[in-house]
Amino acid sequence: MSIQTIGVIGAGQMGNGIAHVSAQAGLTVVMQDISEAFAAKGVANIDKNLQRGVDKGKLTAEEKAAILGRIRTTTALEDLADCDIVVEAATENWVIKKQIFETLDKVCKPGAILASNTSSISITKLAAVTKRPEAVIGMHFMNPVPVMQLIEVIRGLATSDAVYQAVMALAVRLGKTPISCNDFPGFVANRILMPMINEAIYTLFEGVATVESIDGIMKLGMNHPMGPLTLADFIGLDTCLAILNVLYDGLGDPKYRPCPLLIKYVDAGWLGKKSGRGFYDYAKA
Ligand SMILES: NC(=O)c1ccc[n+]([C@@H]2O[C@H](COP(=O)([O-])OP(=O)(O)OC[C@H]3O[C@@H](n4cnc5c(N)ncnc54)[C@H](O)[C@@H]3O)[C@@H](O)[C@H]2O)c1
Repeated sequence: MSIQTIGVIGAGQMGNGIAHVSAQAGLTVVMQDISEAFAAKGVANIDKNLQRGVDKGKLTAEEKAAILGRIRTTTALEDLADCDIVVEAATENWVIKKQIFETLDKVCKPGAILASNTSSISITKLAAVTKRPEAVIGMHFMNPVPVMQLIEVIRGLATSDAVYQAVMALAVRLGKTPISCNDFPGFVANRILMPMINEAIYTLFEGVATVESIDGIMKLGMNHPMGPLTLADFIGLDTCLAILNVLYDGLGDPKYRPCPLLIKYVDAGWLGKKSGRGFYDYAKA
């Protein structure tokens, strides 16, 4: 299974990171979003991150230009028809992802792999809306994609061995370390991470400590690189809430109930770093 051209759906935090590492590994990239403005913002972010590499002497200006030259943007899913693999990284919402997978199945060439970067939504369920369930797989990159080493690879019930092997090999080609798991709500990473983040939000909600104290205690006490509330802001509070709802609904255990304070912040449009306000105020930064 030869992979030369990759489609990326969504040019947000994760999508533009996936496009970045793919183009850097020499793949041709088609990045799609619902508007040209969102796609352009994604490319601008890749440009900024690559420039950081040039400034540090890790990359030449020519290499940066060549990487950017391998990335094309579009708003039409039909433009992904010739891709060998498509990695979907749109908003964490079942209805949105279902529609994308139904359309991809129709427009993508036979044999193309359809991967999702979903944090929690069932790969098996996404596969079932296509006529190629054997070619559907989870490819869960970590944030920020150019920096983080892991790709959690999730096999749906019907994922074929050939597709699984092709995706494991692709992950290595992208300079990442793939680790696989089975398809259950939240997989491994978010099944363990989100209850910790939710508990940190409950701790704030119940007035046990301030934002800074909660993060400071977890950072210094557990030797974590950042506190759970900072991490939630970086992930996106809308994404955290969507994942907790998948855990809560999918596993039926009240221990995954999202904290009302998280719901309130998302209702207010306080989505974390990407919206300028979450548990911290990024407008000040
Ligand atoms: N943020 C994280 O830390 C993180 C980590 C791993 C995985 N993920 C997963 O990656 C996916 C994207 O998350 P993100 O943080 O990049 O979100 P984001 O909000 O930064 O970006 C989402 C992008 O998807 C686009 N989009 C929405 N509907 C679309 C559609 N119908 N077609 C094409 N594009 C569409 C939006 O315009 C936006 O640009 C989610 O499934 C999320 O769970 C996120």
